[in-house]
Amino acid sequence: VTGGPTPPAAGSYDNVVDFGTLYDAIPAYQERDDVGFYLAEAARAGPGSRVLEIGCGTGRVLLPMARAGHVVTGLDASPAMLARFRSRLEAEAAGIRKRVTLVEGDTREFSLADRWPLITAPFRILQHLLTPADQLRCLATVARHLEPGGRFVFDVFNPNFAALLQDRSTEVEETPEVALPDGRFLRRAVRITSVRWIEQASDVELIYCVRDGSGTHRIVQAFTMRWYGAAELEHLLARAGFIIEAQFGGVDRRPLTDTSPEIVTIATHIEK
Ligand SMILES: C[S@@+](CC[C@H](N)C(=O)[O-])C[C@H]1O[C@@H](n2cnc3c(N)ncnc32)[C@H](O)[C@@H]1O
Repeated sequence: VTGGPTPPAAGSYDNVVDFGTLYDAIPAYQERDDVGFYLAEAARAGPGSRVLEIGCGTGRVLLPMARAGHVVTGLDASPAMLARFRSRLEAEAAGIRKRVTLVEGDTREFSLADRWPLITAPFRILQHLLTPADQLRCLATVARHLEPGGRFVFDVFNPNFAALLQDRSTEVEETPEVALPDGRFLRRAVRITSVRWIEQASDVELIYCVRDGSGTHRIVQAFTMRWYGAAELEHLLARAGFIIEAQFGGVDRRPLTDTSPEIVTIATHIEK
């Protein structure tokens, strides 16, 4: 791997200190149907097994795992997202809280003392890694933290080229106003400012409009989403010493086809 890491994509989650509260108020995130899939993958490692999630955010997937009895570690680069996770933990029973460890760190170069039978990266974490150098750094770091025979399970979206060709540079409201727990209100719009075909990347703006007694405040989360083809993932994983155990077109384990919404991958690392 040559060249230094690009700046952390996670910076876009720290525009405001309570960004995690805004993230958790988006119904489309809370309604994602991936939690059962990741729970089933954890159950395969045995009751009470240990799980490391990279890019754990506010604990949307990891907290249900801890509630199900797993001993979990969540790594994220965003202090705002981790702060929200910690505040959610305060409402949990002591037995659940003690099964959760949170670590601030970068998916590309963290170093923890343990190894895990399962490492997960739910909700497109690898799409925050824009260059092959960064992707390989992350995969090498994951490999170093897997027990022999351990699995790395992650999802990315399956690029819809017809949608990518559309001009989506005009702001469109995609989340109508919802109430925040503290009495403020949130609505959100989205726009794609550019699609860069050579880099396989879309530049996205999520515009959070927070209304309180003093008016409406716009918080723009600007970030780049890197998209992957299924064959590219196979090559990338092989280059990092992984083999694909299974690949699906969604978290319901449907076959991967041209029109699948997701590419869901279960990979194992071959020890040299
Ligand atoms: C879309 S959220 C997903 C959070 C969680 N996995 C979920 O499913 O709700 C993406 C998360 O990845 C984190 N992230 C992005 N790039 C990262 C990096 N290089 N290192 C660590 N965390 C990163 C962000 O801070 C954010 O919390």
